Amino acid sequence: MKEDIREVLINEEQLKNKVMKLGKQISKDYEGESLTVICILKGAVMFMTELIKNIEIPIEIDFMDVSSYGNQTTSSGVVKIIKDLDSSIEGKNILIVEDIIDSGLTLNYLMKILKSRSPKSVEICSLLDKPEGRNVDMEVKYVGFIVPDAFLVGYGLDFAEKYRNLPYIGILKEEIYLS
Ligand code: PRP
Ligand code: MN
Ligand code: MG
Repeated sequence: MKEDIREVLINEEQLKNKVMKLGKQISKDYEGESLTVICILKGAVMFMTELIKNIEIPIEIDFMDVSSYGNQTTSSGVVKIIKDLDSSIEGKNILIVEDIIDSGLTLNYLMKILKSRSPKSVEICSLLDKPEGRNVDMEVKYVGFIVPDAFLVGYGLDFAEKYRNLPYIGILKEEIYLS
């Protein structure tokens, strides 16, 4: 895997520190409130598990699997629900946890669906934000890192389902995704 990485963009220590900071902020912001953290599979899984270790208030977790990319490197704009939430979110404070916001299509679609289910509030926490990729405007309450327009893998992010288990965020070598 390592040999396919051009450069480490965000290392393990930087990730750890940021996730800790985000967890503290979320704990503070939702103090005395209920909170349901929704992990968007599969990319957000590593970020979500690390993040909730740093949230110091009682929470519930749930999972939703949507896919817009398939095995392509650019968003198709078609978002499919592969797995829906297990529980109702009516009247609850919802925090959607994502690994990356690129075009914004995935989250734009998800926000519409979740808001239609009458939660008390819905906010987004994304580890990475790639503003150059954006097609739709998106209000994101918590962002870890603003990233450049490069093909990123690791810490949950994949290329054709590979590299998710790298413990850092790396830039994939061009020859890997162009071949
Ligand atoms: C990736 C990523 C985000 C989304 C961001 O997921 O994890 O969910 O794309 O792209 P967008 O802002 O352009 O919509 P993907 O659909 O590849 O599924 P995965 O999480 O299972 O890899
Ligand atoms: Mn995803
Ligand atoms: Mg993907």
